[in-house]
Amino acid sequence: MSPSPSVPVLTIDGPSGSGKGTVSRLVAERLGWRLLDSGALYRAVGYAAGAEGLDLSDTEAVTRCARETRIRFQAVADGSDTRVLVNGHDATDELRTETAGAAASAIASIPSVRQALVDMQLAFRKAPGLVADGRDMGTVIFPDAPYKVFLTASAAERAQRRYKQLKEKGLSVTLGTLKREIEARDARDASRTVAPLKPAADAVFIDTTGMGIDDVVAKVLAVVQS
Ligand code: DC
Repeated sequence: MSPSPSVPVLTIDGPSGSGKGTVSRLVAERLGWRLLDSGALYRAVGYAAGAEGLDLSDTEAVTRCARETRIRFQAVADGSDTRVLVNGHDATDELRTETAGAAASAIASIPSVRQALVDMQLAFRKAPGLVADGRDMGTVIFPDAPYKVFLTASAAERAQRRYKQLKEKGLSVTLGTLKREIEARDARDASRTVAPLKPAADAVFIDTTGMGIDDVVAKVLAVVQS
């Protein structure tokens, strides 16, 4: 149960490439609320485990790593970006890669790893409010959130968006590979037994296929303002 139930939370869950990250950041800015990028926590643990040379299927070692890894979000001075420090090292760029995403997805299926990250996520709930971006924000971490959204889009469109993002960062990828990776990750995230990716029963479902970001932001803000 959340320690601060009076602080409003807007949960934004959905598969990767659904636009969650950008939408969550813009909505948090508009509302003046804090932002929890829970995917970054899983990416940070996957990254730390890799840096230690751990076998990602070694449940005990990865769980210890999840408990011990120090993760800090640090806004850059002009407010344009947030850096993620993992055990004191700025790992932001490494965390955004597909390799980090796949490692995150693998360790995220270990129940004790998810448990190790619960308190850290609950601690983000501070006034005046929180926008929580992830897969299980509305179902597991903040089930009492007054506002819940589930964003999705077709796999083809999500691959296209991700392709554009990675190209802009100068990373070399192919669209076909990305689409296959996205589908494989969706299947793993949706089929795991603990906190699978699924909409909360009381979430507003928004299919963003063919929608511009401003329209999605407006729809999500309408959920809070209604
Ligand atoms: O949102 P993202 O792509 O940064 O998430 C990376 C991986 O972490 C994703 O494949 C599934 C996992 N994840 C999770 O299991 N639960 C969350 N709340 C957020 C992410």
